[in-house]
Amino acid sequence: MTVPPSIPLEDELGDVLDKALCQTGLTETEAAARAEVEVSRLRDALDWRSELSGEELRRLARVLQLNEVGLCALGCGHYPLPEIAGLPFCLYPLRMSHGIGVVNAYIVAECGSGRGVLFDTGAGLAALQAVWPPAIRQIDAVFLTHVEAEHAGGLCAVVANFQTAGAFVPTGATAPCGRGMADGEVWTGSHVSVTAISTPGHVAAHNCYVVAANGARCGSRLLISGDLIFAGSVGCAFFCCQSLRTSIRRVLDLVPDDAVIAPGHGPLTTAAHERRYNPFIV
Ligand SMILES: [Fe+2]
Repeated sequence: MTVPPSIPLEDELGDVLDKALCQTGLTETEAAARAEVEVSRLRDALDWRSELSGEELRRLARVLQLNEVGLCALGCGHYPLPEIAGLPFCLYPLRMSHGIGVVNAYIVAECGSGRGVLFDTGAGLAALQAVWPPAIRQIDAVFLTHVEAEHAGGLCAVVANFQTAGAFVPTGATAPCGRGMADGEVWTGSHVSVTAISTPGHVAAHNCYVVAANGARCGSRLLISGDLIFAGSVGCAFFCCQSLRTSIRRVLDLVPDDAVIAPGHGPLTTAAHERRYNPFIV
């Protein structure tokens, strides 16, 4: 599978700088002074009309503890995206408009089979059905990364529609029709296994999921990253900045370089690619 070039990143330079200010606890004035950048130029960048030079971006990256390569790539409007290939199963990204943004859910299925597992439910069953792949007729299990309306809408309706036996949410989250799936817990289906990784940070109860083909000792893995890691950015740390950074490091330590990352927003990417370019991974 190749990433269609038309899928935009979730975050632009201004969003990344805003999240970095939040994570470091610096004010705009403090960050600008430490980076020797005029505060008005930093504010313009935060307002998505950046004219920051490469040298200014490099100094801001140091002050804000960001990956300089990735920040400069974003600043130039050329954040690279990798080719996506080699997964031992079929991956169906389901992109749904929600408010002013777009949210992703995913189906993983044995290629050629009409049954799969679903990660997140978007805003609800109707939104899912509008983008549903006709080839998929049965969902064996549903896994939620976190219980926010844009990712977990209509879980009970989805479960009822597909008569799904298993619906899983992060331990600590409350969702009707779902039961808690704890860190390290493994669900095994007919073709794939799904391992939950507790990744607090965006919210307290957030899971990423590692998907692997049954019987495959090696080969590509899929990391369903929810609102922890995006291509070129990370989720907002509504719960805790330090937990978010710890969760990112932990989850990236658990997957190989060729793992495909499927985020809750924006395009697909890979672990190797985000290790190299993601502004928040240093
Ligand atoms: Fe989200």
